Amino acid sequence: MATSGKVIRCRAAVAWAVGKPLSLEEVEVAPPKAGEVRIKMVATGICHTDDCVLEGGFPNVDFPVILGHEGAGIVESVGEGVTSVKAGDKVIPLCIPHCGECSFCRNPESNYCQKCHLSEPQNLLPDKTSRFTCKGKQIHHFMWISTFAEYTVVPEYAVAKIDAAAPLDKVCLLGCGFSTGYGAAINAAKVKPGSTCAVFGLGGVGLSTVIGCKAAGASRIIAVDINKDKFAKAKELGATDCVNPKDFKKPIQDVLTDMTGHGVDYSFEVIGHADTMTAALASCNMNTGVCVMVGLVPSGSVISFDPLLLLSGRTWKGTVLGGWKAKDCIPKLVSSYLEKKFNSDLLITHTLPIAKVNEGFELLRAGKSIRSVLLF
Ligand code: APR
Ligand code: ZN
Ligand code: ZN
Repeated sequence: MATSGKVIRCRAAVAWAVGKPLSLEEVEVAPPKAGEVRIKMVATGICHTDDCVLEGGFPNVDFPVILGHEGAGIVESVGEGVTSVKAGDKVIPLCIPHCGECSFCRNPESNYCQKCHLSEPQNLLPDKTSRFTCKGKQIHHFMWISTFAEYTVVPEYAVAKIDAAAPLDKVCLLGCGFSTGYGAAINAAKVKPGSTCAVFGLGGVGLSTVIGCKAAGASRIIAVDINKDKFAKAKELGATDCVNPKDFKKPIQDVLTDMTGHGVDYSFEVIGHADTMTAALASCNMNTGVCVMVGLVPSGSVISFDPLLLLSGRTWKGTVLGGWKAKDCIPKLVSSYLEKKFNSDLLITHTLPIAKVNEGFELLRAGKSIRSVLLF
C-alpha cells in the first residue's frame, strides 16, 4: 500500500480528560513496529465500557486517550514478523487479547489472556510507546485497540482475521457487546434446553444474553429492566416475560422467585451495579442456580452479601468477552453470523458518522439506543 511505512494523518475522537466530551481531531498514526498491525477502521460500536472510562470508573487508563474497543476494519500494513494477517484482510481488533502462549491461553477452560487490560495496562503498546500523536502531544492507546480512530495500531495477538464476505458495519458488534452477552449464556452459564433464565439489564450486552439463552434452548427467559422501552426488543429476541422492578414493592429477587417457584436456573447481571449483582444472585435457585456476572462495576466497588446465598449451593461466576478465546472464536462467530445462526443486526439502533460520536454517547446514556455504530 502507498501508505505502508509512513505516518498517516487521519481523524480520531480524542478523550482529553475525564468527564469531557470527546473531540474529533486530526492525529498522526505511526507505522506498525515488529509484531504490530495497522488497521484502517471502517466501523466501531459505542459500548457502555467506553462511557465507564469517561466517568473515571475504569482501571489502567491514562488521558489523553483514544477510546473504542468494538470495531472492524481492514489491515493497512503489518510490521516485521506478523504472519496471521496481511494487508487487505478484513479483521476485528480484540479487546481481550489472545497470545496463545500464556498459561491461561493454553488452558482450554479459560479465555482470560494474561496480557489482558485488567492485569497489564494497555495504555501504550507492548514496547511502552504510543503510535498516536495529536497537536504535538502523545495520545494513549486503550485496551491496545483504540477503535475510535480512522487508523489504529494493535499487537498481532489483539487482532483476528475474519471472513472476507463479512459486512464490517454489522459484525463490529462481535468485537465486544454481542460476543460478551451471547457467550455469557453459551459458555459461562452453559444454559441447558428447557431451563429458566433471568437477564438483568437489556442494553446491547443483555439483549445478546437473551439471544444466547434462546439459542441454548431455554424455555423461559425473564427480561428485567427499569426502562420499559427495552421490552419490545427483548420480546422480539426471545424473552418470554418482561419485568420492571419499579412496578413492585417487594425486591425483584422475591418477584422472580414467586414467578418461578424456586428461582431461575440461570441469572445474568448485565448492568454493572453492586446491588443488582446480589439481586441476580438471590434470584437463582438456592441449590443448583448459576448466576453470571457480566456487567462491569466501577473500579474499587465492593459488594457485601449474605454468604448463606452461596452455602445452599448456588454458583456465582463472572466472564469477560463471554468466555470466547478471541483470536480463534471471533472469526467463528462471524461465520455463524454469515450463516444466520443469530441476528445481531437487531441490536443496531443508530448508525452515525464518527463526527457524531458524542451524540452516540448521549443516546446510550439516555437509554434511547441499544448500539450506535459509528462509520469513518
Ligand atoms: N435494574 C434493572 N435494569 C437496570 C437497572 C436496574 N437497577 N439499572 C440500569 N438498568 C438497565 C438500563 O435501563 C439499560 O437498559 O440496564 C441496561 C444497561 O444497558 P447499557 O447501558 O446499554 O449497557 P451495555 O452496553 O448493554 O452493557 C451492560 O455489560 O459488559 C458490560 O461494561 C458493560 O457494565 C456494562 C454492562
Ligand atoms: Zn465493550
Ligand atoms: Zn495469553
